Amino acid sequence: MNFLFARAPSIRIAPTATARRSISHSVSVSKALPFYLNTLRSAEQNDGKVLRMLMFGKPGAGKGTLSARLVKKYDILSLSTGDLLRQHIAERTEVGRQAEEIVAQGSLLPDDVMLKVVASKLELLNNRHWILDGFPRTLGQGKLLDAHLQNQNAPLSLVVNLDVADNVILSRISDRWVHLPSGRVYNMSYNRPKVDGFDDETGEPLTRRPDDNPEIFSRRLKQFYDSTSPLLAYYASPVNKLARLITLQGETSDEIWPQLDAVVRRSFPGVRERVSSISQRRYSLSDPFAMEQEKRAIKRGAASDGPNPSKFLN
Ligand code: AP5
Ligand code: MG
Repeated sequence: MNFLFARAPSIRIAPTATARRSISHSVSVSKALPFYLNTLRSAEQNDGKVLRMLMFGKPGAGKGTLSARLVKKYDILSLSTGDLLRQHIAERTEVGRQAEEIVAQGSLLPDDVMLKVVASKLELLNNRHWILDGFPRTLGQGKLLDAHLQNQNAPLSLVVNLDVADNVILSRISDRWVHLPSGRVYNMSYNRPKVDGFDDETGEPLTRRPDDNPEIFSRRLKQFYDSTSPLLAYYASPVNKLARLITLQGETSDEIWPQLDAVVRRSFPGVRERVSSISQRRYSLSDPFAMEQEKRAIKRGAASDGPNPSKFLN
């Protein structure tokens, strides 16, 4: 299990102009940002009940959308492996070169590669409330994650299964547009940008994910049924002693969001709501602008409360 702790490839924060160009032309993005760094205090300082949550569901089920809503409202860290991989691809790292074709084809990366990608990030989740989106995605990844968390004496506390019908998802995917540097996701029928084709916050162009066409999408769905859905039985079995497994159904976020919000509020009362000034401060490994802000905050000593963002800056 030690390779879980191997260092992930270093991630450069500010993409070069070339990387940005390659983002617009060849790379995709999804809803949840890889990481939000915030001024969260140790979760144990609250009521001892720590949110360690998996956001589980088919491709396009809304994992990124709902994770982002939780992170915007509450002091929670989130990590999306899909976003992390797209960032690697954009920056042409070794992992990114390996991932590009696999992701575009709708297949899964090998477990050992994924573990390398998430290993150093998992360490940063210690004593935090957190959500993993898109990891684990195979039984092998699930068992390794459990072993890692047991080692940390920090087992999963919640698994949320988003149950959305295939036909509903297919229609959403064809409407999805994304802003790669930030991870923001738009949908032309459900969450339209203020100006079609452009990101609300930066004005930069939106792109489509190359794995969002019907042919590749059906392959991603098949991968889900073959490799990922067995994890549900694993989390429902007695092996999983501590994490609560809940399934949320609904076609719209208006149906699903209140249920999810209520579970978090009732079961994890120590998870604090952000105050409004903080909720505007979004820090993402994939957002160079936000990271510049964070670097300045570190210099001013303003970020001493949360995870040390300087870890991400080289
Ligand atoms: P990843 O990026 O994780 O893709 P995914 O799991 O296929 O999920 P998506 O991001 O497509 O969907 P989502 O559930 O986040 O939905 P979203 O919120 O965007 O992974 C990409 C690839 O990376 C994989 O295929 C694989 O190759 C690789 N990979 C990643 N992790 C891996 C791992 N652990 N192991 C191996 N390989 C790995 O919503 C979708 C759309 O619906 C949006 O348009 C949104 O606006 C809309 N929408 C969302 N909710 C609602 C709603 N309630 N009502 C109406 N519209 C909604
Ligand atoms: Mg996503």
